[in-house]
Amino acid sequence: MDLFEWQAKELFGKYGVPVTRQVVVSTPAEARAAAEQLGGPVMVKAQVKVGGRGKAGGVKFAPTPDDAEKHAQAILGMQIKGLTVNTVLISEAADIGEEYYFSFLLDRANRSYLAMCSAEGGMEIEQLAVEKPEALARVPIDPVAGVDEAKALEIAEKGALPEAIRSQAVDVIVKLWDVFTGEEATLVEVNPLVQTPDGVVLALDGKVTLDDNADFRHTEVHDAYRDNSATDPIEVEAKAKGLNYVKLDGAVGIIGNGAGLVMSTLDVVAYAGERFGGVRPANFLDIGGGASAEVMANGLEIVLSDPAVRSVFVNVFGGITECDAVANGIVSALQLLESRGDPLSRPLVVRLDGNNAEEGRRILTEAGHPLVQQVDTMDGAAQRAAELAGA
Ligand SMILES: Nc1ncnc2c1ncn2[C@@H]1O[C@H](COP(=O)(O)OP(=O)(O)OP(=O)(O)O)[C@@H](O)[C@H]1O
Ligand SMILES: [Mg+2]
Repeated sequence: MDLFEWQAKELFGKYGVPVTRQVVVSTPAEARAAAEQLGGPVMVKAQVKVGGRGKAGGVKFAPTPDDAEKHAQAILGMQIKGLTVNTVLISEAADIGEEYYFSFLLDRANRSYLAMCSAEGGMEIEQLAVEKPEALARVPIDPVAGVDEAKALEIAEKGALPEAIRSQAVDVIVKLWDVFTGEEATLVEVNPLVQTPDGVVLALDGKVTLDDNADFRHTEVHDAYRDNSATDPIEVEAKAKGLNYVKLDGAVGIIGNGAGLVMSTLDVVAYAGERFGGVRPANFLDIGGGASAEVMANGLEIVLSDPAVRSVFVNVFGGITECDAVANGIVSALQLLESRGDPLSRPLVVRLDGNNAEEGRRILTEAGHPLVQQVDTMDGAAQRAAELAGA
């Protein structure tokens, strides 16, 4: 999960990284009030999860509360790289002497962590990396040893941060490492990290990516910072139900057990769909190994809540969970949907294969639901589902 700047800097503050005081607001009147409250000149900064906000006109200096209100008026509702600005950050304006760049990130290629540091901050780091790679220090971090003061000093020296602020920089770098490990981030970036004319080091911007796989260890922070405004509402609902669902834009709903099987099901349906006017999969949904009636019912409900879905393909390979259990799950799921007052309304094509497939098929045949059809092969079932959706 990528964080907004205000969230990143709030976390920095918790770990003692020096930041300017800030208030996040969503109306021009609140912007004025925030500027009054902070006192003195402020920056009005668009809160969207992309870089280049400054160049797009989303970062403005406001000497007075009047200016803060005016700038907020202009920035709120603005589009930056396709994202709408719903909130702005009102942050104390700092005097800037020099701008530096600093980040910790997960270095996947080297299966390690990496620190990047440069005395030439402010400009886009991608540009610096291409045009002046020697000015951007890259220091590998041993994940076990981590970053102590000696390591932090090595990074600051290699990044050529000025001597006068080196001990402050070391302190900030160690604290940013604490943020990185303490919050289980995969990215912590500060651009610019600045020195004020009187020699104080401050983080004026913050970009943090938290590791979603560590959700369960940080539920409080993750729940507080999750932003669903840009996520598809069906995906939000699916996540709340613990389902692994991704919305796509076709018409064949897909449910399978196991991510690999579901991915190949998407391919097979897209291929079969070419014969029926370019019908495509409507979603990815992996119900995993268990596939109880409740999970199956939740899955069906999620898939059918997408109005674009015209048929559903349930593709199950019986392994540890055998097909008869899955078939019973489907039958109970259909009853469960009916009892919820939302009975199955679109055709369901089921393909069962693997352990106890025959028994599973018998159970579904016996249940005899009018909208359920069985096809024994994956290709055949994909074709039938595509045909039903194309009709
Ligand atoms: N609190 C502040 N006080 C003074 N100047 C600031 C403050 N925050 C940001 N700035 C100035 O605005 C510039 C852009 O802000 P910031 O880095 O937060 O946005 P950005 O989205 O990264 O924009 P860009 O990609 O254009 O740099 C900074 O490089 C800095 O010069
Ligand atoms: Mg920046």
